[in-house]
Amino acid sequence: MSQPPDDWEKLRQEILECQQCPLAKSRTQAVPGVGPNDAQLMFIGEAPGRQEDIQGEPFVGAAGQLLTKLLEQVGIKRQSVFISNVVKCRPPENRQPTHIERATCRPFLNRQIQYIQPRVIVLVGRVPTETILETTVRMGAMHGRVYHRNGRTFFVMYHPAAGLYNQTLVPTLEEDMQKLKSIANNDRVPSEEREQGQLPLSEFFSEEKK
Ligand code: URA
Repeated sequence: MSQPPDDWEKLRQEILECQQCPLAKSRTQAVPGVGPNDAQLMFIGEAPGRQEDIQGEPFVGAAGQLLTKLLEQVGIKRQSVFISNVVKCRPPENRQPTHIERATCRPFLNRQIQYIQPRVIVLVGRVPTETILETTVRMGAMHGRVYHRNGRTFFVMYHPAAGLYNQTLVPTLEEDMQKLKSIANNDRVPSEEREQGQLPLSEFFSEEKK
């Protein structure tokens, strides 16, 4: 049975007021996400960093600025996509979110996806990729490809922060963004060699199916 549709503003408020894990104590504010709630493209990062925690918007720090530039280079307006994170509150010292934090926050992400029904979900970096596709991730092998899981289409890209640390990755980020643009435009059917049946279906999907 499908769930009754969420109230978008109520969902946002629940995220802003959430006290379900210890990150609520250390955050400045929760960062639910930004962009239209009927976007065709949804970007999912790891967790808010320092700037995001201060400004209340995902991907506004240095990595976010690179993401915005990469989008603009291929003619995708940042304002046309929905951007969020696996975990909605900043982990102290920018450490990776723990598996418990990711699991606690997961229903919010599920509900956002369920509401938005994006055509393509872009997994930005290793943490969202391993969390959502439930696989041990080798980004070198997984980036720039499409994965179909339970009726949803995912695209994996390196985290733009990787391009800040290692400039030689920037052309790869640019190529992947170009591929994403082609996929979003339906210009070509992307390679599917790493798909169907290779990974277990996660709770994430079965929850969505209820
Ligand atoms: N990195 C992320 O993964 N998310 C943000 O919102 C900012 C930086």
